[in-house]
Amino acid sequence: MPTALVIGASRGIGREFVRQLLRDGWKVWATARDDASLAELQSAGAQALKLDVAQTDSIATLGWQLDGEKLDLALFVAGVYGPGHGAETAPTSAAFDQVMHANVLGAMQLIPTVAPMVEAARGKCVFISSIMGSIGSATASIGWVYRVSKAALDMVVKSASFDYRHATFVALHPGWVQTGIGGPNAPVPVEQSVEDMLDVIGKLQPGDSGSFYSHDGTRLPW
Ligand SMILES: NC(=O)c1ccc[n+]([C@@H]2O[C@H](COP(=O)([O-])OP(=O)(O)OC[C@H]3O[C@@H](n4cnc5c(N)ncnc54)[C@H](OP(=O)(O)O)[C@@H]3O)[C@@H](O)[C@H]2O)c1
Repeated sequence: MPTALVIGASRGIGREFVRQLLRDGWKVWATARDDASLAELQSAGAQALKLDVAQTDSIATLGWQLDGEKLDLALFVAGVYGPGHGAETAPTSAAFDQVMHANVLGAMQLIPTVAPMVEAARGKCVFISSIMGSIGSATASIGWVYRVSKAALDMVVKSASFDYRHATFVALHPGWVQTGIGGPNAPVPVEQSVEDMLDVIGKLQPGDSGSFYSHDGTRLPW
């Protein structure tokens, strides 16, 4: 039975990854911050772990809880959008810190703990990024702080891919998806986005490490 870790599984894209992976026969470790979500994940059949990616001590606890585990797939899904404004408004330090801690520092602190477990299974580390972080695709500044955080996350993924040669590291854009971040008017239902992404993930080869893909399998510019 293949094993996956889904980081940020209380709702939205992360919760749907858990549902589809369990349906497909995976053993799933799933993280959430609140007790109600942990209980719900556990009753759905996942192994629930408490984790706030913006808390360093929380990440250390995850490391010893998973000690010795081999992960075929680690999904870094947790993220926040932050303020919606663009470059005509200065972000506050508090808003900047909140978004960068959750979207960037969290991944940077998790990778040295999680990536060796993925290498042990010759597995895949998949980071849910966004086309909003693509410098090569940028046409506007709306969601400025979020864009900057996802561009930084992309560098986290690309640069780490050189150090963890036995894992396949990719960034994935999920589409504009009906979730807390995407909102109700998003065109892509969460079930479709996750189905598409699992298809892309299933086809990844070691030579794809250090790449950025959309949920439909097209390669995106960083
Ligand atoms: N939806 C879209 O259109 C879209 C497009 C591009 C990229 N994305 C990316 O997809 C990922 C998932 O977002 P979503 O669309 O599913 O939005 P969502 O419904 O708002 O879910 C966000 C998830 O991230 C978790 N999270 C936030 N901060 C966290 C922290 N400090 N520690 C642990 N977990 C934390 C939330 O947990 P709580 O329940 O505890 O808050 C929740 O599970 C994000 O990285 C987002 O940037 C989404």
